[in-house]
Amino acid sequence: MPALQAEVRALAEERGAVILAHNYQLPEVQDVADFVGDSLALSQQAAKTEADVIAFCGVHFMAETASVLSPHKTVLLPDLDAGCSLADSITAEQLRAWKAKHPGALVVMYVNTTAEVKAETDYCVTSSNAVQVVEHIYREHGEDTEILFGPDMFLGAYVEKQVGRKMHVWDGECHVHAGIRPSDISAMRESHPGADFLVHPECGCSTSVMEYVAAGDVDAEGVHMLSTGGMMTWAAQAPAGATAIMATETGMLHPLQMARPDIDFVAANEQAACRFMKMITLPKLRDTLRDGSGVVKVPEAIALRARLPIERMVAIG
Ligand code: 13P
Ligand code: SF4
Repeated sequence: MPALQAEVRALAEERGAVILAHNYQLPEVQDVADFVGDSLALSQQAAKTEADVIAFCGVHFMAETASVLSPHKTVLLPDLDAGCSLADSITAEQLRAWKAKHPGALVVMYVNTTAEVKAETDYCVTSSNAVQVVEHIYREHGEDTEILFGPDMFLGAYVEKQVGRKMHVWDGECHVHAGIRPSDISAMRESHPGADFLVHPECGCSTSVMEYVAAGDVDAEGVHMLSTGGMMTWAAQAPAGATAIMATETGMLHPLQMARPDIDFVAANEQAACRFMKMITLPKLRDTLRDGSGVVKVPEAIALRARLPIERMVAIG
């Protein structure tokens, strides 16, 4: 193991820290982590870990979620400026104003939001369970329930199509996924006929892929709308020698290729890199573990209210 990675592991042991890393992290950061996963799996790990310290290799809202779920643990983020353009697209004040216009509506927010926004939310969702959570709400609260869904408009449109109902959808987007356009998918279909498609529902191409399927232009069996964790599950079961076009942030190539070196994973758009995720580097992780710097602590009054929608989501699945 290279010296810096060995130093990080030794510091983690010394501090009693667990290192959690998102699938989009730099390969060398993923390789020193105790657990690598999608945002749902990372929140579940943060909630159940027995370690005193959580070194979170991801972006700020993810570290906040860890702090909300494990208020007595120390959560460290190696670069406090690692934000998220999607989380920045709605503030708590904007959400309060939206709610005021729709009294009685239920608020469903993607986990890519600040803790303050979650504190104004009824149910959280991630890309792996958004459809399931919205279906649960209609079952439990009635089919005419008014839902304010945000902040990602592409995920919102995908959920509406799957569930077959209209919601009020905020017009936020992740700049990285919004940049993966329908034209990227058409180009890939031409250059890799017969390949499977792994598409993150935040992508700007997600609804058009569903339209291709509906029109019979693309084989429904070859299209998989998945969270990053869902892509890993797909990879574990995929036939040997397959080719898969991956429409999400390019960091995802590393865990997929590690899990299945025999499969050819191709990025739908090679420019789709999240600069916030890439702000977390091994030297910064080493410094944070050594100095105990980069503490993320959500104030208890906010955490108390933000915990409820996350726990409702985790209980549903
Ligand atoms: P996942 O929940 O699929 O890991 O996605 C998180 C994210 O930030 C997508 O950009
Ligand atoms: Fe946020 Fe997009 Fe980066 Fe995910 S990829 S952390 S949604 S900016």
